[in-house]
Amino acid sequence: MSRIGIIGAMDEEIQHILDAMKDYDEKKKAGITFYVGTFNGFDVVLCKSGVGKVNASVCTQILIDKFAASNIVFTGVAGAVNPDLRIGDIVISTDCVQHDMDVRALGFKLGEIPYTEVSIFEADKQLIDLAITASKEIVEDKKIVSGRILSGDQFIADREKVQFLHEELNGYCTEMEGAAVGQVCSMNSIPFVIIRSMSDQADGSADVNFLEFTKLASKNSFEIVNEMVKNW
Ligand code: ADE
Repeated sequence: MSRIGIIGAMDEEIQHILDAMKDYDEKKKAGITFYVGTFNGFDVVLCKSGVGKVNASVCTQILIDKFAASNIVFTGVAGAVNPDLRIGDIVISTDCVQHDMDVRALGFKLGEIPYTEVSIFEADKQLIDLAITASKEIVEDKKIVSGRILSGDQFIADREKVQFLHEELNGYCTEMEGAAVGQVCSMNSIPFVIIRSMSDQADGSADVNFLEFTKLASKNSFEIVNEMVKNW
């Protein structure tokens, strides 16, 4: 059976999908509520992971173990890191890296997880194509790009750090969950994709922009997932 696990970190990021699901069962595990039902005729399990890599990891492993998710899609907002991106633009993950994994003092590269084979978690090609096609059908007047998503347990609001992340790690945007979802999916051989709409530019105005644009950016991301599941 094919079942899509859909994750958002915050209420705004999952609410539209929950509204569209109508009938669902609620199950709790590790303090996370999982909504089991159908979305556009497809079996889905939706959940709000909470913010940060640990929450996202626990949530992803439960989706796989307890709810038999065969694919995982993350929907939400991010801070733009690529200087060509503006608020409202869309990034579909090609791969994800944990920018706060920093063992450079022992000779590892920034983002490299010591003593493991993989530190760059590649999203699934078919899911990427599905997300790009859906985005092109839905989003007008905004850039849609695929690129590397950086994740860390940090809200970035500093132009110099943004430049560093872009130059050092070739990041397109930064958020706080995607690479954790990517790592857990990769450890379990489960295909995933992360879809992020830019709520801010991770600069000195990021706090204000995040509060102002998160609702709108979350809706953009929801509409892409909606279209994606219709074309699944
Ligand atoms: N999510 C949205 N904007 C972000 C930022 N600037 N840093 C980290 N996570 C974010």
